[in-house]
Amino acid sequence: MQSIVRNRDVPAPARGDAGAVLWLTGLSGAGKSTLARALELRLRALGQRVEVLDGDEVREHLSKGLTFSREDRDTNVLRIAYVANLLARNGVIAITAAISPYRDTRAKARAMSGERFCEVYVSAPLEACEARDVKGLYKRARAGEIPVFTGVSDPYEPPDAPELEVKSHEVTVDQGVDAIVSLLRERGVL
Ligand code: ADX
Repeated sequence: MQSIVRNRDVPAPARGDAGAVLWLTGLSGAGKSTLARALELRLRALGQRVEVLDGDEVREHLSKGLTFSREDRDTNVLRIAYVANLLARNGVIAITAAISPYRDTRAKARAMSGERFCEVYVSAPLEACEARDVKGLYKRARAGEIPVFTGVSDPYEPPDAPELEVKSHEVTVDQGVDAIVSLLRERGVL
């Protein structure tokens, strides 16, 4: 079993086409934010303009007041997609790190950015995310204190054909970053 899986069927955009939406998706605690921040530093060091749209931060600002109902998650995800696309079309590499659990909503995000969109599935087994439980939310979800928690009592729909899958429990953050940087080079973003 490979720890980093590249999907080579996805067509690459023309070389020199700057700007991208790097859409990280995965369970809470899978390592999306960690990977996003490490990637941000690496890309800045390469001279790139980068912004991170992190789920937790977006919910403090752009999506304040939204719940975790399906409707509100969709609103949240589509707002992120909208802003990410604005950034990407201005030459920025926009890295998003939201659970974005629903496949058809991610498809809408992809449709907004077309070939600039790269989906990265940050996959870790639920048990691994739950064992880490950095924020203590899985414990609260199991105790019934959080009624609709992704992976516990609400679905996470894994991508069918992400441009890249990073099995975050099997590789280091640096290896994950390396794989994403290679993907961006192959697609002509870097
Ligand atoms: S999304 O589903 O709308 O994409 P988002 O990434 O913004 O989710 O927010 C997820 C974060 O909110 C989780 O990492 C977790 O810290 C927190 N959270 C609080 N309640 C829930 C819940 N019911 N389901 C999932 N995450 C939750």
